Amino acid sequence: MRLNTLNFHSKLGLSGFLISIILGLFSAATLIGLLYSSSDRGFNIPEMDKVKAKYSESALVGAMKTTMYQYVTVDDDIKVMEKWIQAGALENDYFKDEVMYIIEADCQKCHSRSSTMTGAIPSIPFNSYADISVFTEKGYSWTAMAKTAHIHLFGIALLVVSLTFILSFSCYPGGIKSLLISTAWLSLWIDMSSWWLAKFSTYFAYFIAIFGTIEIITLGIIAFLCLIDLWFKVPDKLRDKKE
Ligand code: HEC
Repeated sequence: MRLNTLNFHSKLGLSGFLISIILGLFSAATLIGLLYSSSDRGFNIPEMDKVKAKYSESALVGAMKTTMYQYVTVDDDIKVMEKWIQAGALENDYFKDEVMYIIEADCQKCHSRSSTMTGAIPSIPFNSYADISVFTEKGYSWTAMAKTAHIHLFGIALLVVSLTFILSFSCYPGGIKSLLISTAWLSLWIDMSSWWLAKFSTYFAYFIAIFGTIEIITLGIIAFLCLIDLWFKVPDKLRDKKE
């Protein structure tokens, strides 16, 4: 079976799937750009500082530099938090006077058990030392990693297997198909292992950025090539010679 020999309705259905994937990849790239930059609109190139913050620092500092940055009134507050965590995140005077002061002023209107504000999150309260110290572990905690990793792996694996299966019925040379299929799987695994390894060395934050980008581009290329093969005659130069 070949993609270009399919009947019209199979082509139509598959095209809908492929176009949705391409749109999904664009929105994923947009979201990554927004989460890892100081901007709240448009397309942005992720800033490495913020990627490092998320994967190599505590959830508290990471959030203050990324998703919760908009609520931080002065940048120096982030330094106060970093200093406290580096010194062991203890329940000392520094915590009571400096850390709690920032939390009360910037965060508690949402992060409180009693908050009723729209956009509030009473399920992640910062009312006491015990509430806050949970978020001082560097990088992903075991629970956070296990939670995000399995959802991500199951979800993306389904996406990759569908896309690569469609690609396998295209007219392109075997070498190109093998390269794209292997790259899609390998970059997924390297990207995700780096989420965890960045806890131990910030260098892995670069792996996250590089292999995450390769993954998105590879899936985009696969979807695009399949769409072309479904509807157009691919030039002989780009076709598998054995056909
Ligand atoms: C306007 C409401 C609001 C304010 C103000 C706010 N947050 Fe959040 N915060 C949220 C919501 C909603 C979530 C859960 C969804 C998410 O992660 O975006 C959250 C999630 C978090 C998380 C968990 C994210 C993770 O990576 O596990 C942390 C840590 C956090 N906030 C820290 C802070 C800090 C520190 C401040 C103060 C500088 C703050 N937040 C201010 C609404 C708020």
